[in-house]
Amino acid sequence: MTDLVRVSNDGLIRTIRMNRPDKKNAITLTMYTTMAEAIETVDGSRCILITGSPGAFSAGNDLQDFLSVAQTGEGLGEPILRFLYALARSDLPIVAAVEGLAVGVGTTMLLHCDYVVASSDARFSTPFAQLGLVPEAASSLLAPRLMGQRRAFSLLVMGRAMDAQAAHAAGLVNAIVAAPEVLPEAIKAAREITALPPEAVAASRRLIRGSPGEIINRIDEEAALFKARLKSPEARAAFETFLLRKR
Ligand code: COA
Repeated sequence: MTDLVRVSNDGLIRTIRMNRPDKKNAITLTMYTTMAEAIETVDGSRCILITGSPGAFSAGNDLQDFLSVAQTGEGLGEPILRFLYALARSDLPIVAAVEGLAVGVGTTMLLHCDYVVASSDARFSTPFAQLGLVPEAASSLLAPRLMGQRRAFSLLVMGRAMDAQAAHAAGLVNAIVAAPEVLPEAIKAAREITALPPEAVAASRRLIRGSPGEIINRIDEEAALFKARLKSPEARAAFETFLLRKR
């Protein structure tokens, strides 16, 4: 486990906390690996809780890592796919506690969650096209299914942010509370889930979500395009612009 992701077990709840507040919880390859492992090895837990830091759930993929891929020509990191597969294949319900900003995969991972609590100042955005990229994490499948094609287009392609109310209206968020209440409210939901008969929860969840196969296929389809886009001059210029902006 790296210190940039803290994994803990509280009774039947496994908590995964992104812990890189100085970089707004931008997710590095090492962090993806730790998060994937935490989802894959949940012996004894009945619910997974994903959270971030005050003010920042996650600023999405680390853009320095993306720039390295763009510069070296090496493919999309295996750890990212492993994390996305782990989300798609998880047998356990996933609750998310989102405070503040949720960018890129910080938003798209929520499409795999079963219950999402957000702070009233939460802001969800996926600036894929602005970065010269395409949607990932099966968001091109799950977002239109959840919120309809037009809201998905505005979010995933136009890069327009959703505030907490819009995310609630779009079905991305279950509950909106004040920032200090986000984690307690998410823990309350997780405890409610763990108190239910686990086999009934697992079977019901499988029915609601369908087979992970379709989701995995879309993750792979998107990843092939994403890899090509990462190496495009458009994407490289966008990463460099962001990373050089304060120098
Ligand atoms: N990758 C790498 N570093 C990131 C990052 C990312 N995705 N997001 C933020 N950071 C870093 C910043 O470079 C900055 O580092 P520094 O203090 O060493 O300069 C630090 O985190 C704080 O970010 P800052 O931009 O100063 O905070 P802000 O509150 O003004 O803005 C964001 C926050 C998230 C709106 C802004 O950082 C941003 O747009 N990040 C990029 C998000 C993104 O495009 N993600 C990928 C989507 S596919």
